[in-house]
Amino acid sequence: MNAAKISLWPLLAGVALASIAVPPAVAAEPQAASVTTAGMEARLKARGLDPVEVARGRVVFDTHCARCHGAEGKGKVRDWRKPDADGNYPAPPLNDSGYAWNHPTEALLESVHVGSPQGYGIMPQWEKKLSERDMRDVVTYIKSLWSDAAYREWLDIERASQEP
Ligand code: HEC
Repeated sequence: MNAAKISLWPLLAGVALASIAVPPAVAAEPQAASVTTAGMEARLKARGLDPVEVARGRVVFDTHCARCHGAEGKGKVRDWRKPDADGNYPAPPLNDSGYAWNHPTEALLESVHVGSPQGYGIMPQWEKKLSERDMRDVVTYIKSLWSDAAYREWLDIERASQEP
């Protein structure tokens, strides 16, 4: 009985932490896990995405972003286009079932830096909590979540955004 009670604590502490949701001011240096599957490696190579950056970005994502945007950016809320009772939109998926792949790198980085536009919304302002490298890596990781078809369209959008 006692053992059961005690073993609940880490869980309760986890829930409390998750609901307060204040990421540490200086995030621990993420350990870049190796990208294992050969298919994944080939895909990153074809896209010119650095596997180390993607692996680091994944750690950042799992630590800070997945609680809202879902594991692998799949989203957590079905009706993410509908605001909740407070008028806030739920976090959209960041894989290609959302709109993130319609936005060039600069716009994605900007969203991560400043959070919800003018502070209206629940997306945190990450520039105060994450390093530039963390933010860049997490955006690279997000690009690794898109299908080949979405990625090809995104490339056109990216190129257009860089035209003078
Ligand atoms: C507390 C919930 C929450 C967390 C945590 C969160 N987001 Fe968001 N995010 C949102 C919401 C909500 C939006 C939609 C903007 C809005 O409604 O204000 C959003 C929007 C975005 C967008 C823009 C999507 C698009 O279609 O262009 C990106 C990119 C993004 N988030 C990345 C991240 C990253 C990277 C992290 C982790 C470092 C993160 N988010 C953590 C809630 C969250």
